[in-house]
Amino acid sequence: MIGIIGAMAVEVENLIEEMSDKQVETTSGISYHIGSISGIRCVVAQCGVGKVAAAVCAQTMILKYQPDAIINVGVAGGIGQSIHIGDIVISRGLVQHDMDTTSLGDQKGLISGINLVTIPADEKLVQKVAATAAEVYGDGVHIGIIATGDQFICDAEKLRGLAEDFDASACEMEGGSIAQVCWLNNVKFAVIRAISDNADEDANVDFAAFAVTSAHKITQLIVNLLPTL
Ligand code: ADE
Repeated sequence: MIGIIGAMAVEVENLIEEMSDKQVETTSGISYHIGSISGIRCVVAQCGVGKVAAAVCAQTMILKYQPDAIINVGVAGGIGQSIHIGDIVISRGLVQHDMDTTSLGDQKGLISGINLVTIPADEKLVQKVAATAAEVYGDGVHIGIIATGDQFICDAEKLRGLAEDFDASACEMEGGSIAQVCWLNNVKFAVIRAISDNADEDANVDFAAFAVTSAHKITQLIVNLLPTL
């Protein structure tokens, strides 16, 4: 069983459409769609936006459906000159950029309970995603650090901070939370994010223009990926 989580309807609706033998179960207001994609058993959920919603969903999914791995799909703001709208960033690791106990002497982003700044994604899973992503995205595939926080980043200065502090390639609002839940439960995970904007002053306009097409394109990647897992 593979778990797939997206925050917004556009990030999961085509995947749910692709499923056969579907059943739906709802827990804490989140619907879990159980079925098959490309002949592989999956559970797909729309968690809602932000770290708390994502954590509730990931923990519930693990306890109720025991997925072998969880894949978080969706859109993100791209960070750096080489990451373009329409490209894809696959997680080498996840940071929570809004976790900040530096005034207590900690490193920025330290998650004290697990004593990590960067939560590493499953290396083999990431390599499989990258190999399949090349079929769909050509040379627009990047593997990097994805920075998560409860903020839509729309500010070049904040963006520079994410690059300088964490060497991040993309920013979004759920992946780091799903990573922490998976880490605590010893479940393999990867985050796959299609770039909808550059997280700068134009990000709100670009997001409105590109989020739907960027999000929908990931469906083909998942359809091709699942039989390789
Ligand atoms: N998801 C897509 N674009 C984003 C941005 N600029 N900041 C946070 N999450 C995003």
